[in-house]
Amino acid sequence: MSEFEDDDAFSALTARLDTESGDAWLVHERAQEMKKRGEDVVMLSIGDPDFRTPDPIVDNAVSHLRVGRTHYSPALGEINLRRAVADYETRTSPHRCSADEVSIFPGVTAALYAVLSCLVDAGDEVVVVEPMYVGYQPILNALDATATVVRARSADGFEPRLDDMMAAVGASTRVMLVNTPGNPTGAMIPPATLARLAEHCRSRGIWLVCDEVYSMFTFDKPHISLRTAADRLDNVVVIDGLSKSHAMSGWRIGWVVAPRALTRRLGQFAAMSMFGCPQFIQDAAAFALNNDEFYVREMRNAYRKRRDLVCDRLDSIQGVRALRPDSGMFVMVDISALHTDDVEFARELLDAEKVSLLPGSAFGESTRLHLRLSLAQGEDELIRGCERIERFVSSR
Ligand SMILES: Cc1ncc(COP(=O)(O)O)c(C=O)c1O
Repeated sequence: MSEFEDDDAFSALTARLDTESGDAWLVHERAQEMKKRGEDVVMLSIGDPDFRTPDPIVDNAVSHLRVGRTHYSPALGEINLRRAVADYETRTSPHRCSADEVSIFPGVTAALYAVLSCLVDAGDEVVVVEPMYVGYQPILNALDATATVVRARSADGFEPRLDDMMAAVGASTRVMLVNTPGNPTGAMIPPATLARLAEHCRSRGIWLVCDEVYSMFTFDKPHISLRTAADRLDNVVVIDGLSKSHAMSGWRIGWVVAPRALTRRLGQFAAMSMFGCPQFIQDAAAFALNNDEFYVREMRNAYRKRRDLVCDRLDSIQGVRALRPDSGMFVMVDISALHTDDVEFARELLDAEKVSLLPGSAFGESTRLHLRLSLAQGEDELIRGCERIERFVSSR
């Protein structure tokens, strides 16, 4: 073996990123392999919208491609898209938002990495709420930051408690990172909690960063952004994007709304690392944001219908409890009355009935003994999945 293949040949960062995907993910990976081999697997473990990006958005991108919008763009993003985001923020919040508080990134993941890179040094602590979206830990690993975990409880509908979050702030905390509406549970943090949290963080000199990528998928009550809830915005950062709401996950468009001083630094970070997002994609994203009411409503209604279909069906199965989410693309299924190990349950379900659900322990200890069922499949497929789950449970 060449010395250039040894671990020593690579940076410490690569070692921090080189973590095994846990047992929980192995179930999903095995299901994908089975599917590839042509087996009839019902895949309910994927978080990618099944809808096509609406045609007018696709047509818009194509027409911009054709007129040559294929060159470099400013590091902070095209002004049209930054304005469209600022207008959206101004429409939905009492605080006016200007385009120079907005920066554009290729997806929410890249936006989060940029923001945390600008706020956190190696050894700093970031307070995060568990259950936690699986993409956060690798970013913290990359930055050599430490996660201080606050556990949300099932009994509270996985809504994190304000006191727990405030108590987690310590001397080395630089950032608190929250996610509302949340993946995997769909829990929404109430505006009063967000407001008090923002104030508490401000008084302690800490940034409050909120990932709101599911903001447009709320079913029973409206999403209230951190930017809307907070009284002062000095330490407030909101990240959102089009991956979920507009079924545009592969287009890679996300944004950050932050105070100007941070936005300026994000521009420097973006110039060094991505050097701008494709022009024609930003053009189409601006079009999408300015003309989206109909499409987003249609998709939201479809997810709501799927949620109700799945929850009603699962609740009729003895021993299974579906936690009807307020928002998002997932249903958490409580299997504590049936099994003592969610990973084992998911494995057995896949073997016996070829249904793939994600074990809750992939998101942390607080969602152990749950499974995450994705609503990103058509109604027929969801019903097929529920029927197989019922057969599996009744055969045990
Ligand atoms: C909470 C959360 N944040 C961020 C992302 C990633 O978003 P993007 O595809 O825009 O990078 C996801 C995707 O599943 C998510 O669930």
